[in-house]
Amino acid sequence: MAKINFGGVVETVVTRKEYPLKKAQAFLKKETIAIIGYGVQGPAQALNMRDNGINVIIGQDKKFANDWKRAEKDGFKAGKTLFDIEEACEKASIVMILLNDAAIKHVWARIQPYMTPGKALYFSHGFGWVYRKLTGVKVSADVDVIMVAPKGSGTSVRRNFLAGVGINSSFAIAQDATGKALDRTLSIGIGVGSGYLFPTCFEHEVTSDLVGERGVLMGCLAGVMEAQYDVLRKNGHSPSEAFNETVEELTQSLIRLVDENGMDWMYANCSATAQRGALDWKPRFKKATLPVFAKLYEEVKSQREAKHVIKTCGTPDYKANLEKELKVLRESEMWQAGAACRSLRPNEKAKANAAKAKGVSGRGAN
Ligand SMILES: NC(=O)c1ccc[n+]([C@@H]2O[C@H](COP(=O)([O-])OP(=O)(O)OC[C@H]3O[C@@H](n4cnc5c(N)ncnc54)[C@H](O)[C@@H]3O)[C@@H](O)[C@H]2O)c1
Repeated sequence: MAKINFGGVVETVVTRKEYPLKKAQAFLKKETIAIIGYGVQGPAQALNMRDNGINVIIGQDKKFANDWKRAEKDGFKAGKTLFDIEEACEKASIVMILLNDAAIKHVWARIQPYMTPGKALYFSHGFGWVYRKLTGVKVSADVDVIMVAPKGSGTSVRRNFLAGVGINSSFAIAQDATGKALDRTLSIGIGVGSGYLFPTCFEHEVTSDLVGERGVLMGCLAGVMEAQYDVLRKNGHSPSEAFNETVEELTQSLIRLVDENGMDWMYANCSATAQRGALDWKPRFKKATLPVFAKLYEEVKSQREAKHVIKTCGTPDYKANLEKELKVLRESEMWQAGAACRSLRPNEKAKANAAKAKGVSGRGAN
């Protein structure tokens, strides 16, 4: 493991240097790995491992016909490498739960009988294990319980892998029954193409992940964008101008500079007028949002968020219900303005064709 200084705090991380792919391949040769669930994260981890020379089988409920068909399209063969959930769990020594988190509650009874001594139960999120009083997950002490949680959408986990770069993942071990839990965890972490792996515990992972996606990464991002767009529109700015000043300039220019070399680098590459304004207004936004983040953290810690997710995303029609709300977002003036804006990018068609040719598409394409 490598010791790295993260802003003054030294942390221990694992990279491909400390745990080479060859070591992961050799270790996993002795295991049968079943990926249960072929939604967004399942395909990414399955295909990356397969491309890395690691044998995987898929366990997918046939009732979810789109997911089953996608697995077939990706080259998994029914009866050979693609099975129903029970059969895949029976064959596996490592059972990788890549199901919709709320569905674990309904599927667990089909998995549990096959979690026999010496096997490993793997998650990519702390949800199923930390909230096991709600999800019903229960295994005996002679089963390993491990986690590798990629810090990115499955779509990016696959795209970055194909581009030759990784997505960072956290990892944790809740039960080491066999003495092999660390090797099982790290070899899968490297096998799925992680950039670097940093240690955590299941509780911290689920809390930070739920806060992050409700906060800056998704909920807050969409909310503050909408607020700025609405103020500009209310004051007579055109949709094109409001969208460009809110989203397009961020995604096409500024966030790329942040990615490249940090926030100060992005600021330094903007005008003095922009820098002055950003430095003056940043504390006001922090002050305004700090209580919202504190409340969000408390809602997650109290498990109210988990209960809400299980209630709303555990129903058979959860995808249709989510899609209804996504449609409202998609059809709002702001995001329609965005679609028009994207269609005018000179290389838009070329980019879409390249993604198609690589067989990479987001969940929306299903
Ligand atoms: N989406 C991501 O990119 C991402 C990123 C990091 C971690 N994760 C974690 O990975 C895991 C999988 O997430 P996902 O987004 O791929 O999930 P998803 O919502 O796409 O669902 C995955 C699978 O669950 C199956 N499923 C849903 N309801 C079912 C039911 N009642 N019975 C049987 N099967 C059912 C679906 O057929 C699908 O194969 C979760 O633990 C999630 O937190 C996801």
